[in-house]
Amino acid sequence: MAKAEQQQLKVLIRRSEIQKRVQKVAREITKDFKGQRVHLVGVLKGACVFLSDLIREIDLETSIDFIAVSSYGKNKESTGQVRVLKDLDSSIAGLNVILVEDILDTGLTLSYLLRVFQQRRPKALRVAALLDKPSRRLKAVKGDYVGFTIPNEFVVGYGLDYGERYRNLSDVCILALPTEQ
Ligand code: IMP
Ligand code: MG
Repeated sequence: MAKAEQQQLKVLIRRSEIQKRVQKVAREITKDFKGQRVHLVGVLKGACVFLSDLIREIDLETSIDFIAVSSYGKNKESTGQVRVLKDLDSSIAGLNVILVEDILDTGLTLSYLLRVFQQRRPKALRVAALLDKPSRRLKAVKGDYVGFTIPNEFVVGYGLDYGERYRNLSDVCILALPTEQ
């Protein structure tokens, strides 16, 4: 990464901290659904890194599906409109569904997804989110399993992007754009 770009990034949550917290969340899920199967639904693309780490720490029978939605353009602000870009491959009727999100921000994406998923009659529907930015909430939604509550900063890394970049960073970092400095 070029030096100029590095200067825009400030580590907020280190990979070791994330790892420990993901293990804790997975243990909670394992306890809550003891003896049952859980169906993890990752919200593409941001949740893919979190989901991959989370599922390996869950000690239950599991299955995975993905949904892709778009609530943001190429920029940092929500358009307020949620669009399904790729729907689930299979039915969630009768399953213990855990919706896996990278971050809860305005809550628009989650409230839309919860509404759509509930109509498909899962046995249980829970939300696991790596990050929660409650200060920006427009819809009253909350995660059942939340990794970290963070301040109102735009973050990247560990799956989260800015214009498709930075998803590969191991730490969650605050991204400051030049106009904000
Ligand atoms: P919401 O609908 O506003 O809750 O936004 C949810 C989606 O917006 C997340 O799944 C992310 O993809 C994206 N998003 C929200 N805040 C951030 C951020 O700080 N960094 C990167 N993506 C974000
Ligand atoms: Mg997302």
